[in-house]
Amino acid sequence: MNTARTVWRIARAGSLDRLQLTDERLPPPGPGEVQVAVRAVGLNFADIFACLGLYSATPAGGFVPGLEAAGVVSCVGPPLPGHPPYEPGERVLALTRFGGYATVLNVDSRYLAPIPAEWSFEAAAAYPVQALTAWYGLLRLGAARAGSVVLVQSAAGGVGLQALAMLERVGARAVAVVGSAAKVRFLRERTALPDAALVVRGGDGYARRLDAALAAYGAPGFDLVFDAVLGDTFRPAFERLAPEGRYVLYGAADFMPSGASRGWLRLAWQWLRRPRLDPLAMISANRAFMGFNLIWLWEAVERVPEAYAALAALDLPPPHIGNRYAFKDARRALDELKAGQTVGKSVLLVG
Ligand SMILES: NC(=O)c1ccc[n+]([C@@H]2O[C@H](COP(=O)([O-])OP(=O)(O)OC[C@H]3O[C@@H](n4cnc5c(N)ncnc54)[C@H](OP(=O)(O)O)[C@@H]3O)[C@@H](O)[C@H]2O)c1
Repeated sequence: MNTARTVWRIARAGSLDRLQLTDERLPPPGPGEVQVAVRAVGLNFADIFACLGLYSATPAGGFVPGLEAAGVVSCVGPPLPGHPPYEPGERVLALTRFGGYATVLNVDSRYLAPIPAEWSFEAAAAYPVQALTAWYGLLRLGAARAGSVVLVQSAAGGVGLQALAMLERVGARAVAVVGSAAKVRFLRERTALPDAALVVRGGDGYARRLDAALAAYGAPGFDLVFDAVLGDTFRPAFERLAPEGRYVLYGAADFMPSGASRGWLRLAWQWLRRPRLDPLAMISANRAFMGFNLIWLWEAVERVPEAYAALAALDLPPPHIGNRYAFKDARRALDELKAGQTVGKSVLLVG
């Protein structure tokens, strides 16, 4: 029997104004799938890029945005070999390749993980995308380890706070870069980082502030830069990579348009001005540049359990929820996330 559900659906990417709250019927879960009664949905900056049609993985035509959610298993489809079994009533978190902005979901069980007993649904919904992003970028590609000096851009955001927590776990030393003095104050209260390692991005003094942060750690340069902003702050950080240093780029928040739709003229100008690297110079400087998109991991589904296990081994605290919204207020939530002033994770609460 089909189940009634409500989703946020966009008929065609291009503008956040096209998002519509829609009632639908969801068929029963198919083979290897689990039906989840959603209690919380995690919001991601990428959701906005997807609605604007600026995310390479955006589906053609209409779609429901959303990359993660958490809730309770309501029923299960016919089992399939290689798909972990779940029982009705289990609390689960889910990775979704779009479709997460929904009150009920059918999810391939390979993208699910049980929620730790002491975690709330909102903490669980805030976890998979940003923790996996930080783990993959910092520990897999970035090879951060004890003693590494690591620049983390947007350090007070969802991915950023996960990155700081992970670096603390492995004994690395973070330089936290943020867009405003208010976020520096937030990080001062929340972390044990030295003042010199809390840096406001941009402006004339940015390079000098990065040098002061490195000096505070007695480090000649960054072992790793973890950046999803790009823009004018790319070059000062890249030039401060130590030999063997790695620059891991996983987003381009600087390309976010200021209005509800794309603003092609500004985008074209930014695209023309995007940083370019000389691979020959990277040989002699002994530096690496890498990029990634988590969609890659979603598609390599056989690697998802290993990734969840690696995260569980880090035993991270539940993510910091900075902003909670009712499901019906998704538009306001996305507008606030888009404005770049939020700290921690934003979640939608269902029911
Ligand atoms: N590659 C992947 O697989 C992957 C996966 C997840 C997330 N991401 C990327 O990681 C970044 C962080 O994602 P998140 O969901 O955790 O978001 P978030 O960091 O909580 O929020 C986005 C942050 O971007 C910064 N920002 C820089 N320039 C901006 C601009 N022009 N407009 C608005 N904000 C701007 C702001 O912080 P500050 O001003 O403090 O810097 C803002 O708070 C995003 O760029 C996202 O696309 C990539």
